Amino acid sequence: MIHVKVPATSANLGPGFDCLGLALQLYNTISVEPNRPFQISLTGSYYEGIPADESNLVWQTMCHLWELLHYPTPSVALTLENLIAPSRGLGSSSAAIVGGLVAANTLAGSPYTKFELLQVANDLEGHPDNVTPALYGGVTLSVPAKDGISPRVLAQSPNLKAVVLIPNTLLNTEKARGILPLHVTRNDAVFNISHVGLLIEAFIREDYSLLQEGMRDVLHQNQRAILLPGMLETLESALKGGAYGSALSGSGPTLIALVAESTQKAVSQNMLTTLEQYGVTAQAMVLEIDSCGATSSRT
Ligand code: HSE
Repeated sequence: MIHVKVPATSANLGPGFDCLGLALQLYNTISVEPNRPFQISLTGSYYEGIPADESNLVWQTMCHLWELLHYPTPSVALTLENLIAPSRGLGSSSAAIVGGLVAANTLAGSPYTKFELLQVANDLEGHPDNVTPALYGGVTLSVPAKDGISPRVLAQSPNLKAVVLIPNTLLNTEKARGILPLHVTRNDAVFNISHVGLLIEAFIREDYSLLQEGMRDVLHQNQRAILLPGMLETLESALKGGAYGSALSGSGPTLIALVAESTQKAVSQNMLTTLEQYGVTAQAMVLEIDSCGATSSRT
């Protein structure tokens, strides 16, 4: 039996649209029993609405990799345990894709390297900012280089935690991308480029006091605020509670604040209370940063 564990991820971190992300210690797991009649069993906190037939994304992704490898599709029984809330900006589809690729690759004897799996994952997902941390762990920058996406791990185990505030509403990534303008002004481009630079400095120097300014963005967060009442006020309330920085997680609606252990309670309380004032209920979690990325083991 093969077990794959794949982390939730938070993309963008403010200004790093489609290129920055980090992995969180919240996992989906995939168990594969070879030589069994085809079957998909769904467990965990989130299985409603997820297909348990051949249209399942994990299974589709596994079949895609076997096709690329010219490896005959084996008959397997899958058990998918989902702890990552879907359609919330926590990388659940990237977790399905990365988990499926790692599981299929392991079953085929691991012919592909992690770098090669990243390229396939990026082709399937369409943007690399979640799949890179899901595979590599830590805080990552994905660079569209000449020979594919170059994964840069900026910090494998940063000394901070993440408060994630997960609203009880779903948001489709395509919708959240659809409201963004196709063109940006030079001033806005310069704002985000300089802030990504600052964010990278914060992680490389481990100077988290730079995060508050470094996580500011003008390319997508204000534009997306109409999708979640109280979003900007809640991000501000995290800073008032002492967070290093705060941002919309991926395309939302989850909000993330990076914090020291000493401020995690105040930040999560401030965020919950503020969002509730706008009529949105949410679940708050305090998570460690995952430093491994997807892992597989055999029993
Ligand atoms: N970067 C994407 C977006 C989400 O903000 O639309 C995650 O890939």
